[in-house]
Amino acid sequence: DYLEVNWDVTAAQKDGYPHFMIKEIHEQPTAITRTITPRIKDSLPYFEDDNIPDSFFEDISDITVVACGTAMYAGMVGKALLKNKFGIPVSVEIASEFRYEQPVLTDRSMVIFVSQSGETIDTLEALRLANKYTKKTLSIVNVKGSTIARESNYVLYTHAGPEIAVASTKAYTVQVASFYLIGCKLGLVSGRMTKEEAKTFIENLQEVPNLIESVITQAPEIEQLTKRMTNATNAFYIGRGLDYALSMEGALKLKEISYIHAEAYAAGELKHGTLALIVSGVPVIVLATQMDVYDKTVSNLQEVKAREAVVIAIGFEGDTSLEKYADHVIYIPRTDKYLAPLMAVLPLQLLAYYAALTRGCDV
Ligand code: BG6
Repeated sequence: DYLEVNWDVTAAQKDGYPHFMIKEIHEQPTAITRTITPRIKDSLPYFEDDNIPDSFFEDISDITVVACGTAMYAGMVGKALLKNKFGIPVSVEIASEFRYEQPVLTDRSMVIFVSQSGETIDTLEALRLANKYTKKTLSIVNVKGSTIARESNYVLYTHAGPEIAVASTKAYTVQVASFYLIGCKLGLVSGRMTKEEAKTFIENLQEVPNLIESVITQAPEIEQLTKRMTNATNAFYIGRGLDYALSMEGALKLKEISYIHAEAYAAGELKHGTLALIVSGVPVIVLATQMDVYDKTVSNLQEVKAREAVVIAIGFEGDTSLEKYADHVIYIPRTDKYLAPLMAVLPLQLLAYYAALTRGCDV
């Protein structure tokens, strides 16, 4: 037996970019295309080449997503999608907590493990524990033949290529993209989604790599914006629904590489605790892509603006009303609201990257 590793040496070189992180940010459209294309047939999710039968997705009572760090935050977006679009009960567990707790799982529970490396020990031990309760374990892993991939019942490999930067970027987007495919399959198998709805959803997903390119072209403006963050000691990321799920990853990225303390808050929760920390000059990144809660989010934006925060809003193209309240607006192309995190994550990664550079941190 042999295992073919389909990565080459050039994938592990900087290729003219100053840092691996920015190279990997730019690689995201390709990484998404490579991850989703083999799993789509006639505009529907297709896992036959991964040897995952449809029966695996049948009769699921609940889903638990277990992971660490950025991979866990990808699970947060997965949860918001699966729960809100498909009505499936989903919880996201930190692997280092899950493995020492009493799992509440049955043989109808699906447990999804997310890991770029496939070797993170807490995630692996959590998998070994879950394997004692259910045969429905699935891993979303980037490294072929890694331990988590081998020990889970099924594996969906992401095709991001080697991720060298410590701050994860492209691995996150392909993990999130994988959740859309899984969600669609679950929706179809459970009858919660019609074929027509699934096709439209998948076709919109296929558009994402092209649309992301236009977000990346805004890098110079985003770099300018980070000058407003250079002296910050605290920053906040707020949003509702899928925006809140994404804001956790945005805050982590900033903390990890710029060493500015950052917190993600569900926009409606800010007033119940730490609004007092929003003082003059504190950067607040407001994610406003979820239209069903848009007015609520904008009212939270006004609350932080009233406290003289520096507000950077991220919204859909054409939503010029954000400019009335925010200091700066970064636009992403209009898309299905569930797909917005795949695009809104780009400005968050770029903000973190340039904020770190501006502060002289070693990216
Ligand atoms: C952390 C990394 O140590 O591990 C994060 O800094 C990563 O970027 C986390 O998300 C989990 O790693 P993995 O390989 O299980 O996805």
